[in-house]
Amino acid sequence: MRSLKNILVTGGAGIIGCNFIRVLLNKTPEFSGRIINLDALTYAGNAASLEDIEKQFGGRRYFFEQGSICDRSLVESLFSKYDIDTVAHFAAESHVDRSIFGPETFVKTNVMGTFTLLDVARNFWQEARSVGLPGAGAPDIRQDVLFHHISTDEVYGSLGETGAFSETTPYNPRSPYSASKAASDHLVMAYSHTYGLPVTLSNCSNNYGPYQFPEKFIPLSILHILEGKALPVYGDGKNIRDWLYVEDHNRAVWLILQRGVPGEKYNIGGENERENINLLHSLIDTVSKKADLDPEKVRSTISYVKDRPGHDRRYAINCSKVKTELGWKPAFGFEQGLEKTVDWYLANSEWIEGIRSGEYRSWVEKNYGARGA
Ligand code: NAD
Ligand code: TYD
Repeated sequence: MRSLKNILVTGGAGIIGCNFIRVLLNKTPEFSGRIINLDALTYAGNAASLEDIEKQFGGRRYFFEQGSICDRSLVESLFSKYDIDTVAHFAAESHVDRSIFGPETFVKTNVMGTFTLLDVARNFWQEARSVGLPGAGAPDIRQDVLFHHISTDEVYGSLGETGAFSETTPYNPRSPYSASKAASDHLVMAYSHTYGLPVTLSNCSNNYGPYQFPEKFIPLSILHILEGKALPVYGDGKNIRDWLYVEDHNRAVWLILQRGVPGEKYNIGGENERENINLLHSLIDTVSKKADLDPEKVRSTISYVKDRPGHDRRYAINCSKVKTELGWKPAFGFEQGLEKTVDWYLANSEWIEGIRSGEYRSWVEKNYGARGA
């Protein structure tokens, strides 16, 4: 088992990163180290998601640093300041629709940002004894450290009606988002093969849960149901995603950080395949019950809209490797996860207001017209 003392979490103000920090500091007694959260606070990052963590652990076990993973001198200074031994790299531009309208920032953050982190890690973790030795070739890199990269199942492309992605499925990314993530995955593996950097990589399916920015399908639909707005369904609504509760995902990430084998990749999925339209009907039923709405009236607001260009038809994950090799299993069934998610959005209107007041509204209006939140 790896000893983790100082974990650099990137993108810790996004949905997965902030839930990861919360799981580690609140629910993981075997972890006694420090977390350094480097986040640029883009439109998707919200420092308020970690206010309670800041109050309880700030300055002792939790340190927030605002800045970009592309800023090499900042990243270098953080590695030194906190003596980083572990990286959990979540930071990314993560929304497929945005990558279609503006791909450049995806290349900058997801490709160049990942490259910058890898390269700083490689330099910082060089064994001091081999630096500068003539004829020594590439300097040795410490092997008691780990760079873990969080990626997506979307790098594998789109499935037909049957089958599932495994760790050996060839890459076939089809959106600017998934292409940028695929590029970053290749860089991570190249740093392992070429420099011996201890890396692990995970490719997960669609996450859902508390603190998700309301541009993604589940939170967007919950909020639109509550506000009586149209419920946009892309294309014929029969695209399939495999839904993973964010806390289950983060438990898998934690297992990989502790026991993942350097150079290996792990697929993580919820084994909850749903057609979008069926998922939306479940959400309508759950939200209507809890908020005392008439589900049939809500259903009448479903609005089939023009399909997303290049919309991948189906994703499904075979996650037997992380189950058999690391002993992971999801703790939350899909209905339970959805209920918890809906409860969270019902109880956190202040968080929602805070996040929707700014850039999100203007971006959605600009690109989609009046359909936005
Ligand atoms: P998110 O969009 O909710 O959050 C991303 C975070 O990264 C934000 O806090 C943002 O401020 C930060 N960030 C963006 N650019 C940055 C930069 N240049 N420097 C520092 N911070 C920056 O994303 P998420 O859903 O939490 O995704 C986390 C990771 O998981 C990403 O790498 C994403 O590709 C991957 N992933 C997400 C899903 C999903 O369903 N959400 C599925 C598979 C993989
Ligand atoms: P999304 O949450 O954007 O995740 P991803 O594109 O990474 O899978 O979308 C999930 C699915 O829901 C996807 O098939 C697109 C669809 N979708 C809609 O039908 N309507 C919407 O308003 C959104 C945001 C997504």
